[in-house]
Amino acid sequence: MATDEPGADWRTELDQVQARWQAAVAAGADVAALRTLEVDALGKKGEITALVRRTGALPPDDRRAFGAAVGALRGVVEGWLAERADDLQAAVLQAELDDSTFDVGRPAAAGRVGHVHPLSQVQAEVEDVFRSMGFHVLDYPEVDSDFSNFESLNIPSWHPAREMQDTFWLDDGNLLRTHTSAGQVRAMHAFEAPFRAVFPGKVFRYEATDASHEHTFHQIEGLMIDRVVSVGHLLDSMRTLLRAILRDAAVEVRLRPGYFPFVEPGFELDIRCRVCGGGGCSVCKQRGWLELLPCGLVHPNVLRAGGLDPDHWQGWAFGLGLSRLVMMRFGVPDVRLLLAGDVRFLAQF
Ligand code: DAH
Repeated sequence: MATDEPGADWRTELDQVQARWQAAVAAGADVAALRTLEVDALGKKGEITALVRRTGALPPDDRRAFGAAVGALRGVVEGWLAERADDLQAAVLQAELDDSTFDVGRPAAAGRVGHVHPLSQVQAEVEDVFRSMGFHVLDYPEVDSDFSNFESLNIPSWHPAREMQDTFWLDDGNLLRTHTSAGQVRAMHAFEAPFRAVFPGKVFRYEATDASHEHTFHQIEGLMIDRVVSVGHLLDSMRTLLRAILRDAAVEVRLRPGYFPFVEPGFELDIRCRVCGGGGCSVCKQRGWLELLPCGLVHPNVLRAGGLDPDHWQGWAFGLGLSRLVMMRFGVPDVRLLLAGDVRFLAQF
């Protein structure tokens, strides 16, 4: 029915377009079909886009109303498309949930999971053993002073023992600690005697590397200060440690004299070779024993440097080669593997 109202014709046309798109969107069967509809309606060459373009050609009286009506039409169709897409997605999800073979509780595919480094594993075990015997676990700096690393340990600047440990010196006169023993006097100043502590960490030596030497490796230092301590205490603690770490209640140890300026007497503690049982093999170089852990009774000069009176206090100390222990525990043939960061190696532990 024609009327005199301006724009009556295009109003009817827009109503029809809207009705057609309403039906088309409602019939859109899946996400791909909706996408096609969207292009056909709202894309560059879409039907509604073409209507928008027509605005400019209309008589000025109609232009405004037409523009608003087409804009509204566009919004309505966009809304239907979005709503229909949501409904379809929900339907897909519901169908999956209704499917009796769909298991919501099934674990997702496993990602790649890392794990604790073998050095850290053994370090944590050693720490646990000592914590259970009342030791503190301490963390001391890797950059330390000449005093901590040498002087306080009864190794003055002229002492030939310095040559046993080629040192990375820093420009400011400090150094990368060559051994965890550098923590001994720090601990004596930090705690009131009596006390017991272990301090694990990285140590550094400026030396050529081979299968059993690396410029960076790990040690754990142990220190016990009390009124009366004996080699018997020391030995028993070392046995307790080795039994736990090597999981062998019958581990056999022996002490040999060993020289370190900061202990008197000083020892090398050996364990019976675990490969040959003591008969002699290539691992123990036919000796039947493996050198594992240097130790001794703290030298009076070291106690003095730590502010302790050697007439009242005594101590024992050990410097365990953690890298070495890890190699023995897991049968690692080359120390350099431990810090090389090769995942093919690390994934085995
Ligand atoms: N600090 C020595 C080193 O790295 C090892 C050592 C020997 C530590 C005897 C000690 C000890 O505590 O008593 O070669």
